[in-house]
Amino acid sequence: MIVTTRALFDVAYGRFALGAYNINNMEQTLGLFEGHMRARAPFIIQISRGARKYAGVKMLEHIIRAAEEKYPEAVFAVHLDHGDEQTCYDCIESGFYSSVMIDASHEPFEENVAITRRVVERAHAKGLSVEAELGMLGGVEEDIEVDEKHARLTDPDEARTFVERTGCDSLAVAIGASHGAYKFSGSQGIHFDRVAEIRKRLPGFPLVMHGSSSVPAEEVARINAAGGALDPSAKGVDANDFAKAVPLGVTKVNIDTDGRLVWMRVHREHFRDHPENFDFRKPGRALIDAYAAFIAHKSGKLRSAGRLDEVRQALERSDAVPA
Ligand code: 13P
Repeated sequence: MIVTTRALFDVAYGRFALGAYNINNMEQTLGLFEGHMRARAPFIIQISRGARKYAGVKMLEHIIRAAEEKYPEAVFAVHLDHGDEQTCYDCIESGFYSSVMIDASHEPFEENVAITRRVVERAHAKGLSVEAELGMLGGVEEDIEVDEKHARLTDPDEARTFVERTGCDSLAVAIGASHGAYKFSGSQGIHFDRVAEIRKRLPGFPLVMHGSSSVPAEEVARINAAGGALDPSAKGVDANDFAKAVPLGVTKVNIDTDGRLVWMRVHREHFRDHPENFDFRKPGRALIDAYAAFIAHKSGKLRSAGRLDEVRQALERSDAVPA
């Protein structure tokens, strides 16, 4: 069942975080649903502009609708990840999305406010909620690359002003993580002190953590042992940190790179071990199973595992309109 992002946030805030995963194709979608059913966890499907271009807008929508039918117990929201203004409007008008992200974080503050405000007005008129971004994460996301010297943590006072002026419903905050496989070196990690400061100024307001993949060392080692060429120093967010971030208001956790690593490991190992195979269903099946296991594991770390029944009950009580 596709529901509003707002309804999921209301149940989750301060108690658990919703995993938000980028989806591009059928195998990933099947693994995503299978894993969440195994963990009995609610979740958010993210669609990026890149995915819309790759699979096509209608194809993605129909894959997700087919999965919704195949897994009638699943409770999830559909969200546009890193939208520009026009893509946000397209999604708002489509009638398929629960929420959109407008990412104008690379613009000066006043411009970010103005663009976000326009998107919020259009989205709220149609019952969708809006995630905005303030501060700058490092790394590469879609067509925007931010190098480390331009990355900038979110300023807590600015965050409060930004939310007041834009009316956005959740905020992606830059708190030390970055997109991609190379986030930290040495003992760097999430700036929890910064999240706490933001929460003080925005109590009860859902914060979003981007760049949350863990890039597990054992995954990188398996990929490289099967012919991959990832830098072995690749390092991500410690998945045990999610539980620390939840009481600080982090309600949505974006994970993409780790799913790509699962895809890379499954295929490299498959073709190393079965060089004669030309049936794409064999690695495809292996990917669905491995992706489901990965999702179930993350749900435990996010504390969203086992929440499905209470989310369903809360939705019935609040009479929340499905998206
Ligand atoms: P990762 O690259 O850490 O998976 O982050 C993905 C993300 O934040 C998508 O918006």
